Amino acid sequence: MKIENSIETFNSLVKRRGFIWGPSPEIYGGFAGFYSYGPAGMALKNNVLDLFRQECRYFGFGEVECPTVLPSIVWEASGHLERFIDPVIRCNKCNTMYRADKFLQENLPNLMIDGLSFEEMENLIKKHELTCPKCGNPFQNIEEYNLMLKTSVGNNVTAYLRPETATTTYLLFNRLDQDARRQYPIKVYQFGKAYRNEISPRQGVLRMRSFDQFELQMFISKEQEMQFEDYEEVKNIKLPLLDWKLQEKGINKPKLISLDTAITNKTLKKPAYAYCLYVAHYLTTILDIPQELIRFRQHSINERAHYADDAWDLEIKTRQFGWVEICGIHDRTDYDLKRHAEYSKQNFEVQMSSDSNVKETPQVLEIAFGIDRILYCLLETTFNVDQGRIILKLNSRLAPNTVAVFPLVRNKEDIKILSLKVHRELLENRIGSFYDSAGSIGKRYRRQDEIGTKWCVTIDYESLEDKKATLRDRDSMDQSRIDISDLSEIIKMKQ
Ligand code: GLY
Repeated sequence: MKIENSIETFNSLVKRRGFIWGPSPEIYGGFAGFYSYGPAGMALKNNVLDLFRQECRYFGFGEVECPTVLPSIVWEASGHLERFIDPVIRCNKCNTMYRADKFLQENLPNLMIDGLSFEEMENLIKKHELTCPKCGNPFQNIEEYNLMLKTSVGNNVTAYLRPETATTTYLLFNRLDQDARRQYPIKVYQFGKAYRNEISPRQGVLRMRSFDQFELQMFISKEQEMQFEDYEEVKNIKLPLLDWKLQEKGINKPKLISLDTAITNKTLKKPAYAYCLYVAHYLTTILDIPQELIRFRQHSINERAHYADDAWDLEIKTRQFGWVEICGIHDRTDYDLKRHAEYSKQNFEVQMSSDSNVKETPQVLEIAFGIDRILYCLLETTFNVDQGRIILKLNSRLAPNTVAVFPLVRNKEDIKILSLKVHRELLENRIGSFYDSAGSIGKRYRRQDEIGTKWCVTIDYESLEDKKATLRDRDSMDQSRIDISDLSEIIKMKQ
């Protein structure tokens, strides 16, 4: 059967090769919005995290970890209880619920729905006499739907599963201020689960109800936001920016402009915020996501989260879902710290510079990555079918296996022993090696191509004599004979 370069082939590969399974639990029919990672998916995810953590250290961010369940007071203070809502339309006959903006965009594809207020969306529903797709009943009003998952803890204390890691990081503010000995900006990040009760999660892993965030926060003074040292080094870098004004004119193509130009022409307000766009872009490109598939899209006032004074999404162009947000960069001002100071009755006004006695509540700039979405985009953008051969052209540092070792035949004891020795030596050199002796050599190559393994090493009869192995490259399929004793060094060099 001919293998097509199609979305169906891709979706089947993601399951077949153990990247992502679900909705989970599959044996009970699945629960929408919940997915599991198989061994290949977890290995890929951990490699992305390793790389991100390493780069965060380079950029001077320290890591924190907080609880995922917090009492109501936190979410009252953060504004999530009142304002973390999606617009929904509910059919009053069959009770089916739809997210209003998505429903309108699907039904009125030529209109710009992003940025409309609740009232404007309601007017469109009435004007176009839109009805429930299930039972044909006319739709009426738009309701507010809170996205947080509620639970009760201990003796019926109401609590919520966090809808973002960010708020939980802000709750540490006075500790962080002491820990950093008041040296600003304070840079921290948190990786971990967040939960959102999505209305009708239909886009697979892109809209999960339980998902992983990797959110960087910078606590910074007003003065530093405008005079930010690190910005000077990156200000000439050009990024593809699609501001709100362009979108209003129906333009979808971003403009490649330098951060400095964006500041001068007021597309961006603050150099420190511009620097955050740079960091988000850098972390995306080191994953080898092609430049032409990346854009930054500014939110309209109506689209912005309640805490944001400015918000840009870093989006990746996908084949299956169009432009997908993998990161949101938010200027949260002093909104969060002021609200938590008020509700907790703490004082979060601090002296942020040794040259001045003035105390102020720090501003917060945020770079919020969705890790599951990164994984989806990595899998989709590296997926290739070349003359019936499926290949994931993953960066070798990210691929679940760096190298796979095969004995040419499985029933020859000497070959098996030497192959296992090579495999173990690679592992001892901390190279992610996978040993596979099952099936024909051709099939074993295909399996590794399909999970993105960059190199395969085959031990054959000659290897027993000359102590050389065949090293095969995933992309070129070139094969070369290499001294077994040099293998680890060669792979480390190529990586
Ligand atoms: N913390 C920002 C977000 O969850 O999108």
